[in-house]
Amino acid sequence: MAELNLKIMIIGVPKEIKNNEDRVALTPAGAAELVKRGNQLYVQTGAGFGSGFADEEYEIAGAKILQTIEEVYSTAEMIMKVKEPIEPEYELIREGQLIFTYFHFASSEKLTNIMIKRKSICLAYETVEMDDHSLPLLIPMSEVAGRMSIHEGAKYLEKTYGGRGKLLGGVPGVLPAKVLIIGGGIVGTEAAKMAAGLGADVTIMDVSLKRLRYLDDIMPANVKTMMSNEYNIRQQVRFSDVIVGAVLIPGTKAPNLITKDMLKTMNPGTVLIDVAVDQGGCIETTVPTTHEHPTYVIDEVIHYTVANMPGAVPRTSTIALTNATLSYAIQLAAKGWKKACLEDKALRKGLNIVKGKVVYRGVAEAFGLTYHDVSEVLR
Ligand SMILES: NC(=O)c1ccc[n+]([C@@H]2O[C@H](COP(=O)([O-])OP(=O)(O)OC[C@H]3O[C@@H](n4cnc5c(N)ncnc54)[C@H](O)[C@@H]3O)[C@@H](O)[C@H]2O)c1
Repeated sequence: MAELNLKIMIIGVPKEIKNNEDRVALTPAGAAELVKRGNQLYVQTGAGFGSGFADEEYEIAGAKILQTIEEVYSTAEMIMKVKEPIEPEYELIREGQLIFTYFHFASSEKLTNIMIKRKSICLAYETVEMDDHSLPLLIPMSEVAGRMSIHEGAKYLEKTYGGRGKLLGGVPGVLPAKVLIIGGGIVGTEAAKMAAGLGADVTIMDVSLKRLRYLDDIMPANVKTMMSNEYNIRQQVRFSDVIVGAVLIPGTKAPNLITKDMLKTMNPGTVLIDVAVDQGGCIETTVPTTHEHPTYVIDEVIHYTVANMPGAVPRTSTIALTNATLSYAIQLAAKGWKKACLEDKALRKGLNIVKGKVVYRGVAEAFGLTYHDVSEVLR
């Protein structure tokens, strides 16, 4: 009965227009959940195409298909996206419109200033934060990148790609390849599980002994744990075939744990996968690359440093992302952004800019803007 008091919302899902972005903010399954609750859902034609979802699938789920991005923005109260809005979208965003997407404001002063001017409500996936400081809308992408790092490592280890010509798991009578993972968080754990499953000889390092104890408990026997320090890294890189950089120190650039001089001690054809590239990388020689040209070689060591790894597997990434965002979208639609944010502390932390006011301290500090406490906009 209580459901009768819930609001309904007009929700729009535009097609992503950023270069090489094939993800979409909602799957047909998510669309069905929102429509079932009485919301009106508008999806731009072709929005799901890059992730393998046809317009008809959204129609069957109860959504209406709109032909242009302009129609989606002018119709919807809440826009659900994946990437931050880019130039052609700026003018389409209306005052008071709720935009639920990845923004990464601190890395773009221009976007921050534009969104302040547009006076919309910017709810950023990346800053939705639980009490234990975990980031529920970033975790799925770390899971994808972590698992994918081992696919890529295995591929570039092949001779044709310049690698050592080793099979990760070896075969009976031939030793498996050695995989070193530096950082035992989400990315590192998923990488270790994949490498272990393929039969590699895996070592995972972290600076947290508590984390290493946990990993030691849950990992199979072919995963060993080791304290991360310069001495141990220097020793291990000499014998490793694939090395995954997966460290994160929140809010700062990743430390250079693998230095240039260490490359000379590695075997020719060793593969470095620096997943932490989006935080500056944990390998001194890391330079960000794209899926078009993912690798480069220094001192006969292959570097794979793609900054948006999940972009290569948009279908998996879309489903993983919407699994995580949907429950928040349902709350926002049912209660309106204000009530939903008042009642859910994690969601409230996602508010970055509200009707021209910067309510996320990190964004205000990044560009010397006035910071407003979020309570000011929730009254
Ligand atoms: N390239 C991509 O496409 C992509 C995708 C997703 C995530 N990422 C990045 O991957 C990195 C890891 O993300 P995560 O979600 O696993 O973070 P996380 O916070 O879950 O884990 C980071 C781990 O690094 C450990 N650590 C910190 N300093 C260390 C050190 N000196 N040596 C060893 N370990 C250390 C921490 O203790 C923690 O366990 C981040 O930079 C993230 O932005 C990149």
